[in-house]
Amino acid sequence: MEIKIEELSKKYLDQAIRLIHQIFITNPHDQDSPDIWFPASLNPNTEDNKKHYEKLGVVKVKYFLALDGEKVIGTTGFYTLKKDVNEAYWLGWFSVHPRYRRIGIGMRLYKLIEEKAKKAGKEFIRLYTTDSKEEKNAQKFYDKIGLKIYKTEESTYSRREKILYREKKIE
Ligand SMILES: CC(C)(COP(=O)(O)OP(=O)(O)OC[C@H]1O[C@@H](n2cnc3c(N)ncnc32)[C@H](O)[C@@H]1OP(=O)(O)O)[C@@H](O)C(=O)NCCC(=O)NCCS
Repeated sequence: MEIKIEELSKKYLDQAIRLIHQIFITNPHDQDSPDIWFPASLNPNTEDNKKHYEKLGVVKVKYFLALDGEKVIGTTGFYTLKKDVNEAYWLGWFSVHPRYRRIGIGMRLYKLIEEKAKKAGKEFIRLYTTDSKEEKNAQKFYDKIGLKIYKTEESTYSRREKILYREKKIE
């Protein structure tokens, strides 16, 4: 099986959004929804999209896909925020289709973002995640690569969940 990684393009937009909805419990109207951000990343300069960027303090966003032939089987991306724009790439919408897990695709997707962050002169990879059971495997993955929890917060969605902020200093 040969898995390619390429930048998100219009061709795979719908498939990529569908994969995220299969894996995560998301509401298309949430501020960080892929239904907003995947297309916005391809067209950052429309008036509507500029408003999305402004509202969340986002400066730049890019997404990448893992493809098995024409099938989208993984997603990743990075975004920069005004508050730490010189310091960090934030990891966004990181996922691998359940049937393709534990064969190293997540690692390839993560490494791509870390390499890009390094080239761009950033010092950290940061992300937020939750302690929900859907994201349990991700915690093991993040622990494995050394993304350490530096802050926790109560979730605004669910009283049972916590938001975990993680970061890794790029070597
Ligand atoms: C997190 C995720 C992207 C990992 O993708 P993956 O392709 O399976 O990861 P890899 O095969 O590259 O795993 C690399 C290493 O991470 C660790 N790891 C990954 N999944 C694990 C699991 N379920 N249990 C224990 N360790 C795990 C292992 O050390 C693994 O190496 P190994 O297989 O040689 O033991 C995938 O589980 C996923 O899509 N989860 C749901 C979506 C999600 O929660 N995303 C993050 C939101 S913040």
